Amino acid sequence: MDHMSRIEMLIRDMTLVEKLGQLTMTAAGYAVTGPVIAGDSTDAIKAGAIGNLLNLFGAGHVHELQRLAIEESRLGIPLLIAFDVIHGHRTLFPVPLGEAALFDPDAWALTAREASREAAADGIAMAFAPMLDVSRDPRWGRSAEGPGEDPWLGAQIAGAKVRGIQGDDLSAGEALAAVAKHYCAYGPVTAGRDYASVDISERCLHEVHLPPFAAAIAAGVAAIMPAFTDLAGIPMTAHVGLLRRLLRDQLGFDGVIVSDYNAIAELMRHGVAANLSQAATLALKAGVDIDMMANAYRLGLPAALQAGAVTMAEIDAAVRRVLTLKERLGLFDQPYQRGAAPESGAARADRRRLARSVAARAIVLLKNANDVLPLAPSVRRLAVAGPLADAPSEMGGPWSLAGEPATHVGVLAGLRAALPESEILHASGVGILADDVSGIPQVLDLCAAADAIILCLGEAADMSGEAASRAHPDLPGQQRAFAQAVIDRARMLGKPVVAILFCGRPLVVPWLVEQADAVLAAWFLGSEAGNAIADVLTGSVSPSGRTPMSWPRATGQIPIFFGQRPGGRPADSSDHFRSRYLDVPNEPLFPFGHGLSYGRFALSKLRVTPPHARQGDLIEVRVDVANDGARIAQETVFLFTHDRIATVARPLLELKGFGKIELQPGETGTLTLSLPASELSFLGLDLQPVFEPGEIEILVGPCADRSRLLVGTVQLLADDRPPVCSS
Ligand code: GLC
Repeated sequence: MDHMSRIEMLIRDMTLVEKLGQLTMTAAGYAVTGPVIAGDSTDAIKAGAIGNLLNLFGAGHVHELQRLAIEESRLGIPLLIAFDVIHGHRTLFPVPLGEAALFDPDAWALTAREASREAAADGIAMAFAPMLDVSRDPRWGRSAEGPGEDPWLGAQIAGAKVRGIQGDDLSAGEALAAVAKHYCAYGPVTAGRDYASVDISERCLHEVHLPPFAAAIAAGVAAIMPAFTDLAGIPMTAHVGLLRRLLRDQLGFDGVIVSDYNAIAELMRHGVAANLSQAATLALKAGVDIDMMANAYRLGLPAALQAGAVTMAEIDAAVRRVLTLKERLGLFDQPYQRGAAPESGAARADRRRLARSVAARAIVLLKNANDVLPLAPSVRRLAVAGPLADAPSEMGGPWSLAGEPATHVGVLAGLRAALPESEILHASGVGILADDVSGIPQVLDLCAAADAIILCLGEAADMSGEAASRAHPDLPGQQRAFAQAVIDRARMLGKPVVAILFCGRPLVVPWLVEQADAVLAAWFLGSEAGNAIADVLTGSVSPSGRTPMSWPRATGQIPIFFGQRPGGRPADSSDHFRSRYLDVPNEPLFPFGHGLSYGRFALSKLRVTPPHARQGDLIEVRVDVANDGARIAQETVFLFTHDRIATVARPLLELKGFGKIELQPGETGTLTLSLPASELSFLGLDLQPVFEPGEIEILVGPCADRSRLLVGTVQLLADDRPPVCSS
């Protein structure tokens, strides 16, 4: 049947209740992800008054409700079942911030594909992912869910995740509709406090926060979710300019816009709506199609329609987009295909292996003094201590709703499995948050008996993610006192200390980095965390993760990120009147892109060709990479640019590419990176793209630290102008 006739016939036949039902998404009780809890939806589903559900999974449960909608409602329109499949479903991969550290689009797409397969087997047809909020503020707990601090990286992740979640055929049984969220500029909430107001420049919006969403749209994302926040006083859920004009009209997005949880009703708290009907009107006018959990459309739009505040045509347009998405998902023709058959044990085992491999690659080796890692074979007795040493349920991190903590592998179990011949001693010492320090002496005793000490420190899984901002993004509870006591004892005993940080954000721990022999960022690595950590500590996997966010030395440096503009008095130690702090350096503790491996890499011979480039040209950047270390390892090399003189002051570094090369000890290879010259256009004074002739610096190296980058140049030419002969 021609789906347009089906949809048009349905719209023609639907009552207002049934239309508003298609614009309503209600939470079932299988997870709690917001403040309002719904009751039983059975009657409303049969009445056609609810057309979409979230927070429900399990093929049996889903199919039971689907059957109600199809067989017992008047029009038999299938339900859309959505879930937060943020970093895996039952099998958990690293939290997105940790997975960003792989700098591997294929891996990002693969884990998204696997998560979608697993969620589809549970009857789910829509994932509220990818979360694309660029964040430069570790106080904000939702940094854990996103792509880190850089818009270009965010755009790469956006494309990979949308392709992975949706595949190339939304009607396929393992495909889910992706939802790019939270549109837009949620990351720069005031003072890093979740849900707080956002007030940034139009330029920052367009240069930093929109690119990942533009990339998601270019990749064909099926839906978009506006952020809870207001942007300079206009709540995103009612933002006609950014939803209707920019998203739909300019970027050509014709998919579904689904509100965030209760966000339409919260327009009243924002102070832009006096009642639910006015809130519903604002949201519908802005282009929001589905009302998640506010019941604003069901309860507020009839009065708005009656009063002429909205038209039936506007309601029908929203219904049409929702029904079209259901049609594209194959829900009309095969409503039970998702979850029709349970996954095979082999598929789940393969997924666990992938989770282990990706988790190991997400680990960022921040420090490795005297090459204490990988652990030497002579290390036969390990003290594994700290509140996260034997905490498998914490390894899932935030947004691990359908995860199965009973199947998670913690650090202790992972190390015991990897080192069966070694003696692994364990004590937690202190809790994650508790004030009790009575357990510290027991750990100090273990130090004496051990050859090396592994300290597992950091946050609880629920200390990042939504509604989890921290004014002191450091080690909570008594962990600092605990770690200091262990470090002091280990120093007396001459034993190495390896600190592993479990966190949903960069932590402010300069004192720990200063004193521990090795420090790893393990984020929250998911189901296979312990095995992945053991793989890296033992050396069976060389760490290759690179941090997607800058690590502050001090909270006072936040927001901290590499893409800053120079200002008129950039830092210069020779001049007092320059931009700096009296009490800490400007530089982060670890810059974006930092991450050590078990190799030792040196870059040389940067070549940039051609020397002159017009907008349509491809610039080729080549650099030699040598592994002077003793072990095989993979190096990630970043490509930055800097436009020193332009109509608008440009950031000191702009990320435009990266490449990877794996080298044997003593091997040298050449890495080639391609850069379309068109990528060097920027937003001019009028915020429109402009390609300006002039010299561009090309900077290549291991991280966003200019002192460690090789610098070349390319001369951009206007399309009609001959090359300028260098004098
Ligand atoms: C939450 C989050 C959003 C999530 C939604 C459904 O409040 O803001 O990211 O997808 O509600 O759980």
